[in-house]
Amino acid sequence: MKADYDLRLRAHSDRLDRTLETVYGERSDFNEWLERLHAMMAAAALARPAHLVALDAKRLAAPDWLLQSDTIGYSAYVERFGANLKGLIGRIPYLKRLGVRYLHLLPFWKARAGDNDGGFAVSDFLAVREDVGDIQDLVALTKALSEAGIALCGDLVLNHTADDHPWALAAKAGDRTAQGYYHLVADNDQVAAWEAGLIEVFPETAPGNFTWNDQIGAHVWTTFYPFQWDLNWSNPDVFLQMARIVLELANMGVEVFRLDSAAYLWKRLGAACKGEPESHLLLQALRAVCDIVAPAIRLKAEVIAPVCETVAFLGGEQAPECHLAYHAGLMTAGWASLAEGDADLARRVLNDAPPPPSGAGWVTYVRCHDDIGWMTLKPQIDQSPQRAQGRLEAISTHFSSGLTYARGESFQTGSGPGVHGLNGMAASLLGFDAGDARALDRLSLLYGLAFAAGGMPLIFMGDELGQSNDTSWRADPVRAHEGRWLHRPMFDEAAANGGDDRATAVSGAMAQLVAARRRLPALAPQTAPRVRDGLPDAVLGFGRGKGVLCLFNFSEAAVTADLPGAGRWRDLLTGADHGATIDLAPLGMAWLTVEAL
Ligand code: GLC
Repeated sequence: MKADYDLRLRAHSDRLDRTLETVYGERSDFNEWLERLHAMMAAAALARPAHLVALDAKRLAAPDWLLQSDTIGYSAYVERFGANLKGLIGRIPYLKRLGVRYLHLLPFWKARAGDNDGGFAVSDFLAVREDVGDIQDLVALTKALSEAGIALCGDLVLNHTADDHPWALAAKAGDRTAQGYYHLVADNDQVAAWEAGLIEVFPETAPGNFTWNDQIGAHVWTTFYPFQWDLNWSNPDVFLQMARIVLELANMGVEVFRLDSAAYLWKRLGAACKGEPESHLLLQALRAVCDIVAPAIRLKAEVIAPVCETVAFLGGEQAPECHLAYHAGLMTAGWASLAEGDADLARRVLNDAPPPPSGAGWVTYVRCHDDIGWMTLKPQIDQSPQRAQGRLEAISTHFSSGLTYARGESFQTGSGPGVHGLNGMAASLLGFDAGDARALDRLSLLYGLAFAAGGMPLIFMGDELGQSNDTSWRADPVRAHEGRWLHRPMFDEAAANGGDDRATAVSGAMAQLVAARRRLPALAPQTAPRVRDGLPDAVLGFGRGKGVLCLFNFSEAAVTADLPGAGRWRDLLTGADHGATIDLAPLGMAWLTVEAL
């Protein structure tokens, strides 16, 4: 074991030390600090349980296991999916039937009482929230999942702690060291200077980026809610503490980390403070720490931004960063293309997405626990000839006005004309609640895109059953201000047990996609999609590997598309054969493989 660690240390410590030197090297105590970091890493390696050392070896032997055509992800809240961590063990057979190999559980760590942003205001990164269990339950769950071939992905909120985290409590009590863990700004002028460059994540419910704290006598940087205090990553001890936490959680069996709000770590006056170069260096250093101590670990960047920005979080061949990043631009473009009945935006996003470096890939998805953020499409709208002011607004209104098949609600737009985000479960947004006859075709089309477009597809709990919006949040004083609860329902047990026509139809369609994807290795994330020109405007088409062509018709009308070459094309989804052309049904798709004549 020790020998393996030493080997990995030799292979990666240069990369680690040099990266950290770039960020923190000017500090007089840098060398002493680096020694502390290495001592912490060696201790974590020594404490790694035997079954996880074995997992490290297994993953090193097949490092791209997440990037295969048979890897499907699933994302859920512990309490909404299985009541608690113990209850989730009972859900394993369900996940296996669905073909899931990667389970992302939204934060289940000890969180502040009252509003805690759905668990994203963490009071203790190393303790489980009492209502869902304890650390023993977590370890038992990771083992049970692992035996079933499923890796657990946990959230790691890198950017902030709750305002009642011990560091925050100590900072409030006047402890200077703890105050150094946060960004404290003394006066209003400084706040104004910082704000000039910043954006607002929650302009309606949490305007501004700073919150005055009486006890400290300063403004605390709070990018998200006032009770989420941004950590000061220019303090190397913050890096050391967070690296220690990752390794401790990894030693409990958490294999993948969703690095929440990863873009916001580094602050620079005048800048938007989203994706600053130092944020990337810090993530690259964290990756090197993991590669050395626990190489099974996979890092997933939660960065919701245009695709040209998110791809940077996958790093480069020489500077690996995260293994996965959300393809937020493509997700949003799928919805936009549906609203427009035209594949223009989806095509532009795919054309703008550089292929990920080897060993890294996208997470492709339709819905998650957050809103659909329209601004991720801004660059593509700006470049298109139809960059009409109101284009995003029209797309958003399509889903939120109640005048179409969709039953969504806009998010954080307040009373202003702005376009921010959209809330709603996929089924409600796609026409099921309105009784629209094409609802299932729309859901299949968007999930089909997520399954085919070159990423690890992630199913959001309830979508596989066509679950609807949950409006119970409006009557709950703790959640009533937060529209994202609209799409965070309880798991519909009865529907999962087959007692419901809609669920049966949706889960049948989903199972067909899972099976077809498994049969088509070319759909694995490692082969990037090549967008095909010359198709009708409504049709998105891309090649995958050799002789595989996927087509998606975003219009409500049937279209005919030409097929390339002289071969015969077989549609894997229907089994039908096609020659020089294909007729696509309204909202229809085809996954074609060519057979030479
Ligand atoms: C991420 C989470 C979101 C949360 C925010 C602040 O974007 O996905 O739900 O509100 O971070 O932690």
